[in-house]
This record gives sequence, C-alpha cells and structure tokens, in this order.
Amino acid sequence: MARFVCIQDYENHALNNLTPSVRDYYRSGAGDENTLKWNREAFKKYKIRIRPRVLRDVSKRDISTTVLGEKVSMPLGVSPTAMQRMAHPDGECANVKAAQAAKTVFILSTISTSSIEEVAEAAPEAVKWFQLYVYFDRNVTLNLIRRAEKAGFKALVLTVDTPMFGDRRRDIRNKFALPKHLRFANFDGYLARKINSSNEGSGLSEYVTNLFDDSLTWNVVTWLKSVTKLPIVLKGVLTAEDAELGVKYGASAIMVSNHGARQIDGTPASIEALPEIVRAVGNKVEVFMDGGITQGTDVFKALALGAKMVFFGRPLLWGLTCGGEQGARSVLEMMRREIDQAFALAGCKSVEQVTKDMVVHESVYSR
Ligand code: FNR
Repeated sequence: MARFVCIQDYENHALNNLTPSVRDYYRSGAGDENTLKWNREAFKKYKIRIRPRVLRDVSKRDISTTVLGEKVSMPLGVSPTAMQRMAHPDGECANVKAAQAAKTVFILSTISTSSIEEVAEAAPEAVKWFQLYVYFDRNVTLNLIRRAEKAGFKALVLTVDTPMFGDRRRDIRNKFALPKHLRFANFDGYLARKINSSNEGSGLSEYVTNLFDDSLTWNVVTWLKSVTKLPIVLKGVLTAEDAELGVKYGASAIMVSNHGARQIDGTPASIEALPEIVRAVGNKVEVFMDGGITQGTDVFKALALGAKMVFFGRPLLWGLTCGGEQGARSVLEMMRREIDQAFALAGCKSVEQVTKDMVVHESVYSR
C-alpha cells in the first residue's frame, strides 16, 4: 500500500478488485447521481476556498477534539456503512479495530455483517456508536438498543432520511442481494436473510420497504428518549427547520448528511447545507457532517464552516477492500497526516483556531 498516496488511489484499486455488484452498491448514488457529483464538487470545484494565515508558529499542533464528551485524536470519524464483509472477510471488525487504533469514532450500521457483540469484542476501547434503523416491529429496534447499550456503545445515531431506499439504479439492474455466505448479523431468522429472497430488482431495497417503518414522525425521537439514556444523534438532516425540530425533540447532535447521495437525488451537497444548520442550532447542540470527504482540506473546510466533527463512509470501505484492517488503518492515518498538514499550512494549531474566517465562498473572488 506504500504506493497509495491519496484516497483516490485506494478507491481505484478497490473498484478494480470488487465484484461488479458490490462495487456498484458501494459507490453509487440515487437517481441521476447529481448529488453524488456535487458532494465532491462542492469541495473540489472552487466553491469553498481556504484563507491561510502565515507566520503563526505552527510547530506544536494538536488536531484532537471532543465529541459528545469523548476525547478523540482527530476531528474525523467513520460513518456507518452497511455490509462491510462484502469488502473483506473481517468486515466491520477490521474497521472498528482501525478506528480504535486511530482513537476516533466508529459508527456501526444496523444492517451490518458483523454483530453488535462481535464488534464490541473486536475493539473494546474504541468509541463506538450504533446507527439505528427503526423497524415496523418496535421490539426489534428496542432489542437492538438494549444490545448496543450492554455492549458499551456510547450513542445512538438515528438515520432520519430513510423511510425507504433511494432510486439506486445500479442495484436494481444488478438485482443486488447480500452474497449467500453473509447475513445481517444483528438478526436471526427471516430478518437476517430476507434480503436474499427478491426475484426482481434490488433485494436490499425490498427488505427496507418491507421492514423499515415509513410512518415515522418526530415522535420517534420522543419514544427513543423514553427508552434509552444514550445521547441521540439525528443523521440525515439537511435543513435548518429540521435541525431546530431535532433540538426541540431532544437530540444531542445533528449530523448534516445526504446519506452519501443515496437517498433523494437533487439535494445540496452536505457541505453546502452545513452553514444554515450551524446558524440555526450550532450554539445549542453539536453539529457533524459527512458526504464527499476525501482529503484533509475537506475536513478543514467543514470545521471552518462550523462542524464539530466530520465523518466519512466510502473511503474506509476502499481501505478495507485494499488491505483489511491494515488498509483501513492506512486510510485513517493518511487522513490524519493530511488534516495535520492542512492545519499547519493554514496557520492553525488546534481545532479552536479553525474559525469561520479561514474559508470563503468562491463567489467572493469573482465579484
Ligand atoms: C451508507 N450510508 C449508510 N447510512 C446509514 O445511516 N446506515 C447505513 O446502513 C448506511 N449504509 C451505507 C452503505 C454504503 C455502501 C454507503 C456508501 C453509505 C451512508 C453513510 O453513513 C454516509 O452518510 C455516507 O457514506 C457519507 O458519504 P461518503 O463519505 O461515502 O461520501
């Protein structure tokens, strides 16, 4: 892996080594994939520019931060992505070990191919959060919460953008299903295997339609708070209005996210939605973001725009595909070096110094 010098190198290698159906599932977005493109372009294509400060003694730098009261070594954590054993036999257990070594947050998906208990055992010291999908059968969800609490997970990440799956055309064409040797490890019986049963279209999409509750309202947050003491992160918020409602209903943090552009095509890039949400609730709760992060300067820009913590999904899947736990570790360490370098070159010694005035929208330069 020594020849990999950026996330794109990992991605290229991973895409060449995954089966077409898994490759398409991991990389694709919904619809025409406009938002997928924007998630990257908003960073890349001269939308947000850094205003570096110079001669500020950056010889001693510290990129650590705190998130929901936990100390982490850097302001970048791991978003939940489903079915990681399709990338490598060690799947989620390899990724959580990598996050433990990097001393940052790992979020486990409800529909993982390693169980809550396996992941906890693989990395007892990692800061682990559990991502929650709410099933029609509330006892299924309640059982997941109890297991996550018992296994030492520190927060629940309620995904609020998924009453059903987005229009993932590649998965429909591929009739995407979980490979036969894998299962949804958090479940028994038909909840673990139902995904394999579709004859037409995406088996995963059918699973979601049949089992995820699409009648959820804000009351689900009230319900969650009545059954657990864990802090609740709302993942998938893209408007100030919903962020404010989230705070009103008692969320501890808001994760600005468009689900890696996999739900509704045409939404803004997450980084574009971030400022209005920070303005609305940034002084009341912690605000996180994910979507399109592939280099240290992306993290720097998100921090400057008010994110307390930044997350990424696909890049760790690419690392995992390339080299299991070692590959995932390499991706996290590469990002750490890049974040540290961005801090140094922009004249910042700590996250407190990455303030709003460190970035500017490109339009300022075209006036
Ligand atoms: C996801 N995402 C996701 N989100 C979630 O809440 N539960 C899940 O099970 C999954 N599964 C999943 C699978 C795959 C293959 C991808 C790519 C994404 C969304 C994920 O948490 C995150 O929001 C995005 O991945 C962030 O975008 P980037 O970093 O991949 O650009």
